Amino acid sequence: MAWDPKIYLDFEDERTRPAVELLARVPHKSPAHVIDLGCGPGNSTALLARRWPKAKLEGLDSSEAMLDQARRSGTQATWHSGDIPSWSPTLRYDVIFANAALHWLDGQDALLARLMGYLSPGGVLAFQVPANFNEPSHKLMRDVAADGPWAAKLKGVRNIVLGSEQGYYGMLEPRASYLDIWQTTYLQVLDGEDPVLRWVSGTGLRPFVQALEGEEREDFTREYKKRLNAAYPMRKSGKTLFPFQRLFVVARRK
Ligand SMILES: C[S@@+](CC[C@H](N)C(=O)[O-])C[C@H]1O[C@@H](n2cnc3c(N)ncnc32)[C@H](O)[C@@H]1O
Repeated sequence: MAWDPKIYLDFEDERTRPAVELLARVPHKSPAHVIDLGCGPGNSTALLARRWPKAKLEGLDSSEAMLDQARRSGTQATWHSGDIPSWSPTLRYDVIFANAALHWLDGQDALLARLMGYLSPGGVLAFQVPANFNEPSHKLMRDVAADGPWAAKLKGVRNIVLGSEQGYYGMLEPRASYLDIWQTTYLQVLDGEDPVLRWVSGTGLRPFVQALEGEEREDFTREYKKRLNAAYPMRKSGKTLFPFQRLFVVARRK
């Protein structure tokens, strides 16, 4: 799936805030080796660099467009092009950080077990995943995909299924000496026309529109936009409220 850092960073504050709040809960004073998985344009990596300026910092992402942006960000890190599921480091890390990245991957249980295995003893895995998939923003995407003449083409688009708070606890409990898990709803206040469409265009909508072309893509987007704007009406003030849930996990390896 192709990513566009410019569209993604259209909402940089809103997208980076959960990374700030996740990082604030990471119980590690002076890690030597830190990696940001799914580092994107480097916005989350910059936070890690600021907190631990002496750490050897790495960022890994599968999108060249995102990595280009990260390299230009000025953050001192080693940037790797790579795929998280096949990532197999020889080094052991003190902190593995992944903000808004792991939900793209299947088999969360096995993935988390592997990532915990890449930590040094006492090392910390910290990740945040959006948990908005049953809200209108994402449900309508799937409804429109199933409703129109494009249904057969969109059938294969992956339906994201995540763990719950207790589910993640259960997955990590055997390997963790400490777990901190919470879920938050951000009442996001967005400006301008079609703000929710612009928001999802930077992330979750991409696999749907990339599976379509030309008029079909336009028709799909028009129908989805109509339903979105009914679900998230613009207020008289011109603001649109877009509640967004996110789930956070911090796990320290035994
Ligand atoms: C929503 S962005 C998050 C960017 C940044 N971490 C942040 O906090 O805003 C998700 C990133 O995960 C990357 N990603 C998705 N699947 C991946 C995979 N299998 N391997 C590596 N990176 C992946 C995407 O390329 C994208 O840059």
